[in-house]
This record gives sequence, C-alpha cells and structure tokens, in this order.
Amino acid sequence: MRTVALVPAAGKGTRLGGALPKAFMALGGRPLLSWAVAGLRDSGVIDHIIVVAPADRLAEAQEIAGPRASVVAGGAERADSVRAGLAALEGAHHVLVHDAARALTPPSVIVRVAEALWSGEDAVIPVLPVTDTVKTIDEHGYVAGTPARATLRAVQTPQGFRVPVLRAAHAAALAADDLTDDAMACERHGVPVRTVPGDPLAFKITTPLDLRLAESLVAARAD
Ligand code: CTP
Ligand code: MG
Repeated sequence: MRTVALVPAAGKGTRLGGALPKAFMALGGRPLLSWAVAGLRDSGVIDHIIVVAPADRLAEAQEIAGPRASVVAGGAERADSVRAGLAALEGAHHVLVHDAARALTPPSVIVRVAEALWSGEDAVIPVLPVTDTVKTIDEHGYVAGTPARATLRAVQTPQGFRVPVLRAAHAAALAADDLTDDAMACERHGVPVRTVPGDPLAFKITTPLDLRLAESLVAARAD
C-alpha cells in the first residue's frame, strides 16, 4: 500500500511578509520546506514526496526536497495547488497533504494519520482542542453566536485520504472558492472524516510571531 505525501509549498506568504515565498524562508538556517520534508521522511511512513512549488522555483524546490521526491508547479489558490499535486500522483493508495508552513510537525502526528488511513478510514485529520472562546459574527461586527467550545477543534496537517476519495472530492469542489482545507471538500462530498490527536508543535507558521516562535523552538533543540 503506497503512501505518498503531497506538500503544498506554492503560496506567497503574504501574511509573513518576508522577502521570499514562505516555504523558502529560512528557519534555523534552512528553508521551511526542508523542515517539512524532513519530518515526513523521519516518520518512516511515506514512500514518495510530491512538492507543489511556485512555477519559478521548481529546480530550487527539487534541490531542497532531495531524492525520492518530485516537484510540480502550483496554482493561484491552495486548492489549485493540491489539485496539481493530485494530477501528478501515480500508483498511490493513500495521500497525506501536508503544508510546508507546518514545518515543525512531529513525525508522531504523521504516523497517527497514516495508521488511521491504513486501518480503513477514507479521510483523517489531526486536531487539537480550542483554548479560546470562538464566536461567529455578522457583517456589522456584532456577535451572532457562540459555538460550544467543547465541540470545536483546531485542524492541522497532514490530512490523509484514500486517493480516489480526495480526487473525487476536489473535482466536485472545483467551483468552490471557500475551501480552507482538504477535509472540507470531503465533508461536502459526504465522506466521513476521522479525527486523531494533533500536536501543538504542528502549528502553521503564518505570521512573523509564528516564525519567531519556531526560531526559538529550533534554537532550544540545538542547545
Ligand atoms: N499554498 C500553495 N499554493 C497556494 C497557496 C498556498 O501551495 N496557491 C501552500 C502554502 O505554500 C503553505 C500552505 O499552502 O505551505 C498553507 O497556506 P498558507 O499558510 O496560507 O500559506 P501562504 O498562502 O503562502 O500564506 P499567505 O496566505 O499569508 O499568503
Ligand atoms: Mg494562503
């Protein structure tokens, strides 16, 4: 049963505001993409890696990703990049979609997702309990409601899928412009999505504050 990782790394990193696209920004002297790929390799559950990179950085991405990896060009939105990666996927039973931006994801999270897939699940996502109270608001900025916090989870990657399931879900969601993760395409397609425990270290590096946190974690490791 071949398990392939697909790594969306074609975003601009607008919120991080760096000089390079986010996946190529340095963390502890290495690109974020290099950390994400290393975590996937260290998990021992991934047979091949497909990196989805900006069209003008394919060679650079290949050099970072190393052997047993291929690189394809991404699209305008994250979902377009995932579809580009899926189009390049051959002969895999399972796919783990893992954001380059979650550079410090512990291999144990990757293993948990893969093992749930191998046990027969169609779709698996790592989640964490939410610590903030979360509210929905209306278009005027007034509170519309407060979902019960105990039922809420923050969602991480890698998100794992049986390949034909994710292909069908993303094809059906082609017209949607509001997908914030891949599981959403599956939910809308009627696919049950299983949750497994995530890890705080799998946080997404989105803002300069996140990168500072990641830098201090990496520095502490080196000590
Ligand atoms: N991504 C991608 N293709 C896109 C947009 C995003 O492959 N068109 C990837 C990013 O490279 C990142 C992951 O999807 O690894 C999660 O996206 P996000 O954190 O939003 O990264 P960016 O889109 O790069 O950041 P921003 O939204 O701040 O521009
Ligand atoms: Mg983005």
